[in-house]
Amino acid sequence: MSSRSAWRALHHSAKRRAFQPATPYRCFSCTRRAQDQPKSEQDRMTHFGFTNVPESEKESRVGAVFSSVASSYDTMNDLMSLGIHRLWKDHFVRSLNPGSPLPAGPHRKGWNILDIAGGTGDIAFRMLDHATNINHDIETRVTISDINADMLAEGRKRSVQTPYYNTSRLDFVEANAEHMPHIPDASVDLYTVVFGIRNFTDKQAALNEAFRVLKPGGVFACMEFSKVDNPVFDAIYKRWNFSAIPMIGQLVAGDRDSYQYLVESIERFPSQDEFRGMIQKAGFMIPGKGYENLTGGIAAIHKGIKPVVKA
Ligand SMILES: C[S@@+](CC[C@H](N)C(=O)[O-])C[C@H]1O[C@@H](n2cnc3c(N)ncnc32)[C@H](O)[C@@H]1O
Repeated sequence: MSSRSAWRALHHSAKRRAFQPATPYRCFSCTRRAQDQPKSEQDRMTHFGFTNVPESEKESRVGAVFSSVASSYDTMNDLMSLGIHRLWKDHFVRSLNPGSPLPAGPHRKGWNILDIAGGTGDIAFRMLDHATNINHDIETRVTISDINADMLAEGRKRSVQTPYYNTSRLDFVEANAEHMPHIPDASVDLYTVVFGIRNFTDKQAALNEAFRVLKPGGVFACMEFSKVDNPVFDAIYKRWNFSAIPMIGQLVAGDRDSYQYLVESIERFPSQDEFRGMIQKAGFMIPGKGYENLTGGIAAIHKGIKPVVKA
């Protein structure tokens, strides 16, 4: 993109945002604090970035964030990660090698993949491309599931540019990953969740659902922001996160608060070892160390396998 058209996109985006009504939940980490009392004594509290909120409120607050960022989500990802998120996503998909390696024929059924929190389709389209171009498998299909209708609408819009548009290989479902009664037990070959699970209210419930819907031998794969292992690099990274990202959010999307939440939610997410423990608790077998750090631990890929129970 030339600097002139980049500026035009930036200006247009900021102008468009300026005319949007404010969502009910603004300034997540500061002014809301005074109102952060639970509505009832029974309401359990959870994190919304650095703010404590009743569990019953978190879903709508996260919904407001992603509805607000949906249209600028991809541009923002590129700016925030300096394009590195694309390399991570390519690596994630390559490491899963989606698609059946069997030669075409009556025995090949293709994989049934569930891409949770699939948002704008970034991972789903890559997995379908890999299955088609690398494994020559045109039967593998992906269901993109997301709680947010605006993120799904962006994904649908983008899917028009792909060969999978309007085919049985790609489907969109609006659902909460913590509760998916519409997905039968043991029906999924590969479950992916990328930069999504840190936003869930009950992460363990989502991991339990992943275990339920996967076939025995099926793979759970998650890529999420994680903990940087080198303290010097961590200090630089945190400075970038907390100063540059909300500012870029303000300039590009006209929405500082949502990007402030995104960086706070990264800080709140469990460490690599803690998250591996949660995957194990859901019943998964952990291959090797269980995770792979990317760019010094800024992100990590976690994997689990649903055990095959012998009769
Ligand atoms: C940061 S985006 C990730 C999108 C995409 N996977 C990617 O990597 O580009 C996080 C997504 O998680 C979704 N999400 C948040 N809570 C959810 C929940 N409980 N169940 C399903 N999706 C959820 C949001 O709507 C949003 O689309």
